[in-house]
Amino acid sequence: MNPIFVYALCHVVVCLVSCTQIHQEGYCTFYDECGKNPTVSGSLIPAIIPCIYNGPAKPLAGLHLQKLQEVCPMLYKGGATQACCSLEQLNTLQKSLLLSKPILSRCPSCVENFVNIYCQNTCNPNQSLHINITRTYNVTINGVIKEAVTEYQAYLSREFADRSFDSCKNVRIPATGGFAISTMCGKYGSTLCNTQRWLDFQGNSGNGLAPLDIDFRLIDNNTQVGQGIVPLSTRVWSCNESTSPEQEACSCLDCVASCPIIPPPVPDSGPFKIGQLDGVLVVCLVVFCGLSVSFVGFLLVSNLYRGLKSQNKDKNDNEVKKEVHLHEVTCTDKASLATQDFLGSLFQKWGTMVASHPIKVILISLIAVLVLSFGLVFIKLTTDPVELWSSPNSRAMKEKAFHDANFDHFFRTNQIILTAPNHKGYAYNSLLFGRQNFSGVLSKDLILELLEFQTRLQAIQFWSDEVGRTISLKDVCYAPLNPTNPSLTDCAVNSLVQYFQNSRENLEAKINMTVNGQTGEVDWRDHFLYCINSPLSFKDITDLGLSCMADYGAPVFPFLAVGGYKNEDYAEAEALILTFSLNNFQRDTLGFELALRWEQKFLDLVQEYQRNPSTNFTFTYMAERSLEDEINRTTMEDIPIFMISYAVIFIYIALALGEYSSFKSVLVNSKIVVGLGGILVVGCAVLSSMGFKV
Ligand SMILES: *[C@@H]1O[C@H](CO)[C@@H](O)[C@H](O)[C@H]1NC(C)=O
Ligand SMILES: *[C@@H]1O[C@H](CO)[C@@H](O)[C@H](O)[C@H]1NC(C)=O
Ligand SMILES: *[C@@H]1O[C@H](CO)[C@@H](O)[C@H](O)[C@H]1NC(C)=O
Ligand SMILES: *[C@@H]1O[C@H](CO)[C@@H](O)[C@H](O)[C@H]1NC(C)=O
Ligand SMILES: *[C@@H]1O[C@H](CO)[C@@H](O)[C@H](O)[C@H]1NC(C)=O
Ligand SMILES: *[C@@H]1O[C@H](CO)[C@@H](O)[C@H](O)[C@H]1NC(C)=O
Ligand SMILES: *[C@@H]1O[C@H](CO)[C@@H](O)[C@H](O)[C@H]1NC(C)=O
Ligand SMILES: *[C@@H]1O[C@H](CO)[C@@H](O)[C@H](O)[C@H]1NC(C)=O
Repeated sequence: MNPIFVYALCHVVVCLVSCTQIHQEGYCTFYDECGKNPTVSGSLIPAIIPCIYNGPAKPLAGLHLQKLQEVCPMLYKGGATQACCSLEQLNTLQKSLLLSKPILSRCPSCVENFVNIYCQNTCNPNQSLHINITRTYNVTINGVIKEAVTEYQAYLSREFADRSFDSCKNVRIPATGGFAISTMCGKYGSTLCNTQRWLDFQGNSGNGLAPLDIDFRLIDNNTQVGQGIVPLSTRVWSCNESTSPEQEACSCLDCVASCPIIPPPVPDSGPFKIGQLDGVLVVCLVVFCGLSVSFVGFLLVSNLYRGLKSQNKDKNDNEVKKEVHLHEVTCTDKASLATQDFLGSLFQKWGTMVASHPIKVILISLIAVLVLSFGLVFIKLTTDPVELWSSPNSRAMKEKAFHDANFDHFFRTNQIILTAPNHKGYAYNSLLFGRQNFSGVLSKDLILELLEFQTRLQAIQFWSDEVGRTISLKDVCYAPLNPTNPSLTDCAVNSLVQYFQNSRENLEAKINMTVNGQTGEVDWRDHFLYCINSPLSFKDITDLGLSCMADYGAPVFPFLAVGGYKNEDYAEAEALILTFSLNNFQRDTLGFELALRWEQKFLDLVQEYQRNPSTNFTFTYMAERSLEDEINRTTMEDIPIFMISYAVIFIYIALALGEYSSFKSVLVNSKIVVGLGGILVVGCAVLSSMGFKV
């Protein structure tokens, strides 16, 4: 027998037994309307569902054809047009699309692709090729029993569906600044949205728009579905294409492909190098060597010259010996002699006068010094880094003043960055997110340790005499959602454990759940992976149902919880970040004083924790007051150095200028020693004030 015939026969037999539907070119699966879907309630528009019709597509004419051209222009083929939808269906489709189209309307090619999917499902004359009805129910319309469709499968080529999704995924809603698909992907939001989730949400009759359930099946190239089903694949407009000459392509804001290509920056020419060495160093060395050589050369030559001269002198002693003649004395020699004489006599008189009235001179000098130092009363020393390093007239300072006056002071930041370099990373097979790499610091025991540490810091307390009670974090913290009367859980503390609302129980929670027929355990890692993608969510998509919001009510963006990651691979982050934000009270208020004291306690505790040998973290930390502390510390260190060096200089001057005849021999040596010592100390002081370590 002919093998093709055998195959066809088998196919027909199989179909007669298992599939009553004909999937064939030019055949419909459903046609016309069969009333409301009884399983759908609370829909925005009446959920009208179609009737089963597994016959040939119908030719269109007149008003019907006109409507098709209006609603589904991509299916319009002039007079020869056939379709699987009635005029009423076209009207219903039009109403339904009118509700979804506006959010995508900024990008015409996306709208076109979106409409295309629904037109193909409803009207394509080859409908039966990609639609497979899976659920129906019997209705009686005008005394006739009809079968209405309540669920069908739509087979789409994966490439077709992905390209349709890609054309829409960057379209924005200007009112919120967010993405349009975030409203079309249900709980997944825009970050976790993908083609399948986008279509699933649209095909879910619970979304308020879809009249029936559509089970979208995405089929890869070269994959056979069987039963004569052929996945749909039609023309898709890329978002940088204009769908018609009157339409413009989508803007760069809504479509990445439309953005102008920015030429990559010219790479840096790199540091100046000569061979393998630093160029500047080489040039300096050459100059230095040149100068040294010429200096030494000069010394040698001049010595040689002098030697020769003295030899000559010896030889011609008698010839050379002669008087200095008057005409050899030049004008400049005379002038310098006169100046020296004049200054000499002036200073001699000055010295004599001072020496003969010692008491008066000292008194007058003292008064002059005191009067001139009177300005010290107005001196204001500051250690506030803001005032220290920005000029009061600078733009930044003015903007800060404006911000402080119109909004509020920017909060004080106390931060700890924790790493665990000895912990090895690992891979985690997430039921929901697939295989993910986790860094070593993201392990449960370390996160529990972080939680414990954070709890200890949150519990810091100290007694204040001024207030007359114990002060804790809530008295000084930045509490954005309850600024007037905050409790401890209103304080802005950002860390990874806030994804679990600082609850050990939430962190330890585990549950078995089933996704796409696969059952597995989900735990804190799945919740974490969800939250880094949707930090604004109040409920994750795992069966744990945990919120991602911090206990003080604000979202914790992933860059506030972890650090040291590439791209957006937050799960591979090397560090955990723990941030306590305190209110920025006005300086010279009690609140400011208390905040400083809280920060001191914070630093004490952190230092104690760092010294603890059982600590599993390596970390760095800072408090808002740290910078000021450091300035104070270095200033205090510098003061004695300056005092000593000035004292040494004065002693040196006094000794060097005085003439102590009895100590003359001692003096010569002490002059040199003291002088050198003074220079050394002054040098050290200058260097250390410039920030060098001596
Ligand atoms: C239906 O299928 C046939 C054969 O594959 C094709 O020529 C025709 O264009 C299709 N019709 C539509 C509207 O896609
Ligand atoms: C099409 O739907 C029928 C039920 O109506 C089902 O038995 C069949 O498996 C479906 N075809 C495919 C390919 O899933
Ligand atoms: C609907 O009625 C037909 C007979 O008209 C019957 O074969 C079919 O099983 C019924 N379907 C349902 C869902 O009750
Ligand atoms: C799928 O097929 C289309 C055309 O037949 C081709 O352009 C595309 O590259 C294929 N995709 C894959 C993933 O093979
Ligand atoms: C759209 O972008 C693709 C690449 O993203 C490019 O190949 C294509 O030429 C662009 N089309 C138009 C009409 O600009
Ligand atoms: C995880 O790490 C392995 C090996 O370093 C790498 O091959 C793989 O691509 C990573 N997986 C992900 C999801 O980043
Ligand atoms: C999940 O199922 C596995 C195997 O069926 C079981 O070992 C585990 O204890 C279950 N976990 C929870 C949280 O129920
Ligand atoms: C450090 O880790 C070890 C082993 O996991 C644990 O026993 C210890 O308590 C941890 N240290 C602290 C300070 O929690």
